[in-house]
Amino acid sequence: MKEKLAAMLEAAKAELVTVENSKVLQDLKVKYFGKKGQMTAIMKEMGKLSKEERPKIGQLANEVRAEVEALINDKMAEIKRLELEAKLKSEAIDVTLPANNFNRGGLHPSTITLKQLIDIFIGMGYTVAEGPEIETVKHNFDDLNSPIDHPSRSESDTFYFNSELLLRTHTSPVQIRTMLNNQPPIKIISPGRAFRKDEIDATHSPMFHQIEGLVVGKNVTMTDLKGTLNQFVKILFGEQIKTKFRPHYFPFTEPSAEMDVSCYKCQGEGCKFCGNSGWIEILGCGMVHPQVLKNCGIDPEIYSGFAFGMGLDRLTLLKYEIADIRLLFENDVRFLAQF
Ligand code: DAH
Repeated sequence: MKEKLAAMLEAAKAELVTVENSKVLQDLKVKYFGKKGQMTAIMKEMGKLSKEERPKIGQLANEVRAEVEALINDKMAEIKRLELEAKLKSEAIDVTLPANNFNRGGLHPSTITLKQLIDIFIGMGYTVAEGPEIETVKHNFDDLNSPIDHPSRSESDTFYFNSELLLRTHTSPVQIRTMLNNQPPIKIISPGRAFRKDEIDATHSPMFHQIEGLVVGKNVTMTDLKGTLNQFVKILFGEQIKTKFRPHYFPFTEPSAEMDVSCYKCQGEGCKFCGNSGWIEILGCGMVHPQVLKNCGIDPEIYSGFAFGMGLDRLTLLKYEIADIRLLFENDVRFLAQF
């Protein structure tokens, strides 16, 4: 019996070494301690022993039983740990792996410029207004005080649908729409597309973008116009920028001016960029013509206003030193990806 117990202990030890998973270990446990298990069989044989032998062997059997049980329990703990480790490893996410590469889109340079301009004017308390690209002759020309013989009205300059409808030639009709629908104070900018029958070249496109500005209120003066536009270009091009207002003619403003900024490449010295003049023209502006206010039901005796309009694409070309406006509309990704 002693030998049986000793042999069983050795056999159990040897078997345990090879066990690698909890299922096999469970089987092993049954093999020794189950109903038909070896240990169970030995215990059953105890009855056959003599009175003297029984306590000794009984004690030995208990020791062997305890040892095998302890070994099995230790093994169980080890296997559980290994199995957990393996599970964690197999389910691990390697956060250091490089991400799947996908090409992220970018903003069009004109959109970048537009967003910046909108930000600047919103910062000055303006709101953004929109108008249709298909306009009436009345909004695009008549109400803007455009004389009936103004060259921009001609068939050769403007895309007409019929005698009343056209593709707007500028964003200025949004001034009319805004004043017809709102009482002063008014402070809006209006970005959008405009269309003219221009031949395509490095500086012309039959479709282009403008930003219109309109302020109407009590005691709005030319000083407000100049202060606003000076502030605007300083934010856009930097504090050192100088401005120059040249008298000009627009039907819808009186007085009218074109605003130049000192060339930011040569600081006004004169260079290739500014055509050696030291100045770059960037917008048209003026005090809203009293007739235009009247056309929109606003009393010019009480209210006054200023307006301005600039070419967004031209500003974009200047800002990024792009030589040809066509690049903005050709959608060549090799060009667009640079911004
Ligand atoms: N609409 C003019 C153009 O397309 C630009 C312009 C000039 C707009 C003076 C204005 C303005 O609002 O006051 O050439």
